[in-house]
Amino acid sequence: MLNLNSLNPQQRQAVETIKGPVLILAGAGTGKTRVITYRITHLIERGIPPASILAVTFTNKAAREMQERVTKLLPRNPKSATGSGSRNTEHGTRPTLCTFHSLCVRILRQHIEKLGYKRNFVIYDESDQLSAVKKILARISAKGEKTDPAAILSLLSRLKNGGDRAAVFADESVRAMAAHIRSRYESALRSCNAVDFDDLILLTLRLFTRHPEALQTCRSKYRYVMVDEYQDTNAAQFQLVQSLTHEHRNLCVVGDDDQ
Ligand SMILES: Nc1ncnc2c1ncn2[C@@H]1O[C@H](COP(=O)(O)OP(=O)(O)OP(=O)(O)O)[C@@H](O)[C@H]1O
Ligand SMILES: [Mg+2]
Repeated sequence: MLNLNSLNPQQRQAVETIKGPVLILAGAGTGKTRVITYRITHLIERGIPPASILAVTFTNKAAREMQERVTKLLPRNPKSATGSGSRNTEHGTRPTLCTFHSLCVRILRQHIEKLGYKRNFVIYDESDQLSAVKKILARISAKGEKTDPAAILSLLSRLKNGGDRAAVFADESVRAMAAHIRSRYESALRSCNAVDFDDLILLTLRLFTRHPEALQTCRSKYRYVMVDEYQDTNAAQFQLVQSLTHEHRNLCVVGDDDQ
């Protein structure tokens, strides 16, 4: 049984408030992640199916840490087939504790065909992205002209994320060049059935907008949603969380507003 006495009164109140929305703002090292991990465990003890619990954060390291902390809190299952005592819950399912990007990969693996990609899409990391940009630059640049592929990639990412009003795009020639490369870059990825990190979030949002039945499936799956390090969410991630929780409003977010 989870010992809620090891929480301070504010932490305990947040853990025991199992219907959202809940917003927790507190400083560094004050036990914010502890609230999330205890809340997940408490929800499971109260009979909420683990599969309906989702907790997201930003880095793989933070997601791993969250998983380890929840695993330690969950009671062992003595009847485990492995004999070593699995901490899986009675239905053998676990809560989903992951990064925003990994959540989107899970959703897209199931639904991306609706957007015209094949299910086995590949995910380009930064070096894949850079080599795609380099190939494009090699085709369109005049001989001897040097353009920094990393700078172009960062421009593309800003464009994709709705940053087209940034000062750098005030220059018409930069704007036109970026738009042209963007269109070539998108075709290049598309022809390899590839998506980049920005796409993971943006395609999931597109899926939710164009295919409400897919959104509905995700909403009914993730009925209890938590976000750690909420101060770091960008506009697209914020929208993703809003879409998922808009109906049931079981959302609990923790963040440090000083950061
Ligand atoms: N009520 C408590 N009683 C005892 N220890 C606690 C309590 N709350 C938090 N701690 C401990 O304090 C440390 C920091 O907790 P936690 O990682 O949850 O904080 P955080 O606010 O998420 O930190 P960060 O700002 O780094 O994300 C951990 O070792 C945690 O176990
Ligand atoms: Mg934390």
